[in-house]
Amino acid sequence: MPKTVQVLFLAAEADPFVKVGGLGDVAGSLPRALRALSDEQTGGAVLDVRLALPYHPLLKSHLDGVTSVGSYALEQSGDSAEVDIYETALDGMPVYFIDGAPIQSGGSVYSSDAALDAGKYTFFSLAALELPRYIGWKPDILHVNDWHTALAAYSALLRKWDGELKDISTVLTVHNLPFMGPDVSTLLPEYNLRLVNTGLPEWAEVMPLPLGLWAADKIVAVSPTYARELLTEENGCGLDAFLGLRPEALSGILNGIDTASFNPETDSALKANFSIETLANRFQNKEALQSQLGFTVDLGIPLLGVVSRMDQQKGIDLVLKTLKKLAGRPWQAVILGTGDPKLEKAAARLQEAAPGQFHAVLKFDSKLARQIYAGADIFLMPSRYEPCGLSQLIAMRYGCVPVVRATGGLTDTVVSGETGFLFEKPTPGGLEKILLQALAEYEDGVRWREYQLNCMKQDFSWDKSALAYFDLYRSITPLA
Ligand code: GLC
Repeated sequence: MPKTVQVLFLAAEADPFVKVGGLGDVAGSLPRALRALSDEQTGGAVLDVRLALPYHPLLKSHLDGVTSVGSYALEQSGDSAEVDIYETALDGMPVYFIDGAPIQSGGSVYSSDAALDAGKYTFFSLAALELPRYIGWKPDILHVNDWHTALAAYSALLRKWDGELKDISTVLTVHNLPFMGPDVSTLLPEYNLRLVNTGLPEWAEVMPLPLGLWAADKIVAVSPTYARELLTEENGCGLDAFLGLRPEALSGILNGIDTASFNPETDSALKANFSIETLANRFQNKEALQSQLGFTVDLGIPLLGVVSRMDQQKGIDLVLKTLKKLAGRPWQAVILGTGDPKLEKAAARLQEAAPGQFHAVLKFDSKLARQIYAGADIFLMPSRYEPCGLSQLIAMRYGCVPVVRATGGLTDTVVSGETGFLFEKPTPGGLEKILLQALAEYEDGVRWREYQLNCMKQDFSWDKSALAYFDLYRSITPLA
């Protein structure tokens, strides 16, 4: 009989239910990839991973096939708050939605009102920790993600100290360290949670993510390079010294992508499907994209693509400055995404200045995103920091060669001279130099095809990473 490892996986968002960013992609696919591991792959274990999400108001009004499980009380302010549990299944995986007043008053998934988010995610984290007892199921591992669910790991450790939850071990995956969550110092006592001496810097002692980093048995950064960067002053956000005290707890595991959904051979958003064997078909996607964007349809002109949140982190300002400087040379570029109004305006201005050459599509459009991956020649991603990055992985799978800054997961996934181009300094000059180099190499059609094929041959499926997570679970779970 294979041993079953039981994992409760908590996240603020998970595709296909609710997705705002990369966290949603990972929380949607990793739990299923873990469940798909066979006992042969794991050396005799199977994983019963279950996902719990907040029942965000937008989910509540849209989801079918969700059934009510029941309610329980969570102690709050000497009184009790009601927790309502709903359940559905995703490819056979139980998915629980946790509901209650703080979740319904929280509005969108992430609010601009820090107090609302603090109330919602503290409630969610603590209510989720009670879920296993209510449903009569005993997880070996509590796997939390980012600040939104980090307090579940903190509470689990305090409960352990109090002699409860003795057999549960905790894993915290860090998708984006700078987002540490709001001050919860007044909220925690409401839930009978005390602040203890953690050794964290004083400012961090009241924030969910640092408390989770202190409490979790294992901390996972979403790429090996990001794990190392967390220990540096540049990327450690003031926690580098603290994290440096627990080197044995910290590791990096690269994210995967859903290779069934992101498959150029079957993707129905594309004008023409293609594979390594039928790469020539890809040109039809480039022509369709050029025509859709109002550009001259000419396969000889290199087409650059950006699919990104419009954000400083992503280096969108660098892209706009560089393209402005290089306007007049033969290239075309499309940028797709929403975000910082200042950057959106700058993109719109560039489009006015270079209408036949640059197009900004300022919205969320997953179909156009796929058409850009499949039709553009070069994918630009000059992030200032990038914990993992998923779009460069999708771009490579679709034969769109990445030009990226050498940081975090970009360093771990793009190989200079083989699958793309990397540059060091996040300055317009740095990006300009590497882009000119890429454009020069593009002129050599045979060489460019090699880049594309190298990209498409990479394996970015979840298989390897899911096994790495399993090994990590095993290192903190006694396997009978
Ligand atoms: C965050 C990070 C991104 C990472 C994603 C999923 O969005 O910024 O680099 O790929 O989380 O882990």
